[in-house]
Amino acid sequence: MQQEKLVSVAIDGPSGAGKSTLAKSIAGELGYVYVDTGAIYRTIGYFVRSRGADPGDAESVQRLLPEIHVKMMYSKDGLQHMLLNGADVTEEIRKPEISRCASMVSAHTCVRDFLLEMQREAARRHSVVMDGRDIGTVVLPEADVKIYLTASPEIRARRRCLELEQRGTPQPYEQVLKELRQRDWDDMHREVAPLRVAPDAVTVDTSELDFDGSRQALLRIIREKVGR
Ligand code: DC
Repeated sequence: MQQEKLVSVAIDGPSGAGKSTLAKSIAGELGYVYVDTGAIYRTIGYFVRSRGADPGDAESVQRLLPEIHVKMMYSKDGLQHMLLNGADVTEEIRKPEISRCASMVSAHTCVRDFLLEMQREAARRHSVVMDGRDIGTVVLPEADVKIYLTASPEIRARRRCLELEQRGTPQPYEQVLKELRQRDWDDMHREVAPLRVAPDAVTVDTSELDFDGSRQALLRIIREKVGR
C-alpha cells in the first residue's frame, strides 16, 4: 500500500490571535497532530525561572540547557502535555509570569537551536498543524500551507482576559494589553527568528471573526492548498 504523503501546516502569529485553539481544532478535524511550539519555549522559560537564573542572559540560559530534557506527549483527547525532566508541567507553564520569561529565553540563538530539531522531527513523523512564531519562516520553510493569524491588539487582549478569567487567574485589561504589546514588540524585534509574515503565507485577521468563522476560513485555505 502506498503511504500517504505527510502534510505540514504552519500557523504563525502574535500571541492571543487564537492560534492554539484554532490549530488544535483543525488538527482534530484533519486527523493531524497538533504541535504547540510556544509550550516548548514556555517549558524552557519555566525551568530557567525555577532555577532563579536571568532569562534575558544568554550565557546563564545556555549553561542550563544540558540539564533540560523536554518531551511532548499527547493524551487521548489530543492535548499536548509537556514533560520537563520527566515531570508534567503542562499547567504550570500557562501561568502569566511564565509568558514573558518564555519570550525572553526564546530570543537566544542557543535556545532556538536547542529546540529546532525536536520540532522538525515531529513534522517528519506525522502530518502536523504546528503553531508558533517562526514555523513558516525557519522551522518548516517547506510547509505545504503557511498561515499568518492575527487580530488587533485590543481584541487579542480581551480574549486573553477572558481566558485568564476562565482559568481562575484574572488580570486587569490594561495590564494584559500592555504586556501583550510588549511581547509583540519583543517577538518581532529580536535578532533571531523574529515574528514576521512568510512571503508565501496567507494572512488571516480574526478581529471580526468568531471561532467558527475563523475555523472555516483556515480549513478552506488548507483544503485548497493540499487538495483534500
Ligand atoms: O505562543 P505562546 O504565547 O505560548 O509562546 C510563548 C513565547 O514563546 C512567545 O512570546 C514567543 C516564543 N515563541 C517563539 O519564539 N517561537 C515559537 N515558534 C513559539 C513561541
